[in-house]
Amino acid sequence: MRLKDKIALITGSSQGIGRGIAERFAAEGADVVINYSGNAERAQEALRAVEAAGRRGLVVQADVGHTDGIRKLFATALETFGQLDILVNNAGVERHAPFWDVTESDFDKVLNVNLKGVFFATQEFVKHLLHTKRTGKIVNISSVHEELPFPNFTAYCASKGGVKMLTRNLSVELGPLGITINNIAPGAIETPINTTLLNDPVKLNALLGQIPLKRLGQTGDVASVAVFLASNDADYVTGSTYYVDGGLTWNYEEQ
Ligand code: BGC
Repeated sequence: MRLKDKIALITGSSQGIGRGIAERFAAEGADVVINYSGNAERAQEALRAVEAAGRRGLVVQADVGHTDGIRKLFATALETFGQLDILVNNAGVERHAPFWDVTESDFDKVLNVNLKGVFFATQEFVKHLLHTKRTGKIVNISSVHEELPFPNFTAYCASKGGVKMLTRNLSVELGPLGITINNIAPGAIETPINTTLLNDPVKLNALLGQIPLKRLGQTGDVASVAVFLASNDADYVTGSTYYVDGGLTWNYEEQ
């Protein structure tokens, strides 16, 4: 077990990649704080899965797009578990629209959850580590779009590009405290965030054609890298991005 008796808080872990990480962390011996914003039923399913692995779980409803939600999340987690060792900033949203149609409220939603949420959840976590004089590990679920353009998703790309620089910057600032921070950049993973794409055979096949490994990723593909980055095996790793994309990012084929 690579995370034996660690306590992990995973934002947006009722479904998708966050849920996959919650289940894998529990299987590796961690207790898990499951955070969700809208779907209480799915969060309960995630809790049952963590408990079935023999670990403690806690469900906390909170919107990480606002600092009051983040404060509530950490306060509730710490009331129950007393301490945290790992933070996975996973919660993320995207909105599809041509640049000229993007509304201010969609822009704010995307940036608040994907970038501001990562910033302030990390700040709460670091304050807790400073207060308890301990080290810890931060894993951000970014995207291949921290690097790659994604037309019609400019706010999303801007948020993920921001997470890339946040991670590099904080690796320098937090390194002396023994706190590591890394990004995982998933490509096309089969999760609810891309339901529209999954239900459109033409778009799906075009995408598969661009993935050298010729399949969509599964949440477990991301969770295994998250376990590594959250474990002592990655003690000397900080400020890096790990691509989990089946080769998508660097694929170029001349027709
Ligand atoms: C997005 C997905 C997209 C994938 C590959 C992810 O960051 O959330 O919607 O399919 O990147 O482009």
